[in-house]
Amino acid sequence: MFSLRLLFFISLHSLTILSSAALRYEDLLNSAREPEFMNWMRSIRRKIHQHPEIGFEEFKTSELIRSELEALGIQYTWPVAKTGIVASIIGAGDGPRFALRADMDALRLQELADLEYKSKVDGKMHACGHDAHVAMLLGAAKLLLQLKSHLKGTIKLVFQPGEEGYAGAYYMLEEGALDDVQAIFCIHVDHTLPTGSISSSPGTFLGSGDTFEVVIKGKGGHAATPHKTADPVLAACFAILSLQQLISRETDPLESKIISVGFMKGGEAHNVIPESVTFGGTFRSMTTEGLYVLQRRIREVIEAQAAVHRCTATIKFMDKAYPATTNDEKLYEVIRSVGVGLVGEANVHPFPRLMGAEDFSFFSQRMPAVLFTVGIRNESVGSIHPTHSPYFIIDEEVLPVGAAFHAAVALTYVDREAFEL
Ligand SMILES: *[C@@H]1O[C@H](CO)[C@@H](O)[C@H](O)[C@H]1NC(C)=O
Repeated sequence: MFSLRLLFFISLHSLTILSSAALRYEDLLNSAREPEFMNWMRSIRRKIHQHPEIGFEEFKTSELIRSELEALGIQYTWPVAKTGIVASIIGAGDGPRFALRADMDALRLQELADLEYKSKVDGKMHACGHDAHVAMLLGAAKLLLQLKSHLKGTIKLVFQPGEEGYAGAYYMLEEGALDDVQAIFCIHVDHTLPTGSISSSPGTFLGSGDTFEVVIKGKGGHAATPHKTADPVLAACFAILSLQQLISRETDPLESKIISVGFMKGGEAHNVIPESVTFGGTFRSMTTEGLYVLQRRIREVIEAQAAVHRCTATIKFMDKAYPATTNDEKLYEVIRSVGVGLVGEANVHPFPRLMGAEDFSFFSQRMPAVLFTVGIRNESVGSIHPTHSPYFIIDEEVLPVGAAFHAAVALTYVDREAFEL
């Protein structure tokens, strides 16, 4: 394994580092794996798991995090974007300011996994690992406190609300909470990789995304006298079919875009043409510009198809569409080498491009940002289901890996001169 010492050895400023006590990545991992440390992270994660809260309602989650920060003696700013918290660990010297981010919100989903610590709230579940993200970031905070003498800058711990479609990252940035931060890193759990593996790729690797909700209003009436109605069912069908042509006829085949209609509702009876039909879905693009083009054309196509069928359409998009997520290439290389030091080259994998969207992208538009995934796949604990599945289970052995990874990245980054970032 690489040690921090070894990594710094290749840097310009190795001398100062070599003179400090040896600090090795594997020591971080071993500290976080100590039973007491591990139990503490696990109990935080399970408490959050049992009490899932959806976007911008993370009141109890936020309270729990704040009380843990207070117990550790870490100062914080709150509320940021309603429930969010930005805590600071201030090291010696005035080095750079680097942020580590965890999201806090759960999903509207009924948990079906059979766990002793399963969700106690009907219809809500942590099925995207945000409970583990919070526990790992608090774990990192504890590790960083223990190593404060090595810390040459300030680490901001960002506990973000509303990742699942609420653009919590956008609102934290808008409140200026990260104005003095130079770069940011985050971790997301990944059920495709075994526990102990990590994964990411340089450049743009997650798509931009937006949703639409449409109401087509016609004129209801008797199904046997269609000429006296304006049929919104037919208009909606034409609109939905036409949306697919935006991909097949208007998109460069070498570009990646998608439109999926996920629901359609209208009418109750065989012999009644309803007043209105609603449908909705999501659209994605590997480029943020491509998403805005799609958004404009989706509106045009739906409005035009409604008009052709003597109906009208109202279309609602998300308040804040998620941009594409781009890993800064230089920062990615540095963080990848930290990851290699931590888990070994054989356990660091490239991340395939994916149309899944992440509001971490708002940070990546503002400053160098990197997201890595950490594996949680472990059949012996049933951790095989994808995120957003009602059976989603996390191998909790990921907690020390994530905590140590966060801490190692932060420690490495704030020795900024060493890497000329
Ligand atoms: C899977 O979980 C079991 C039980 O906790 C553990 O012994 C094993 O090491 C885990 N496997 C991996 C790949 O972490």
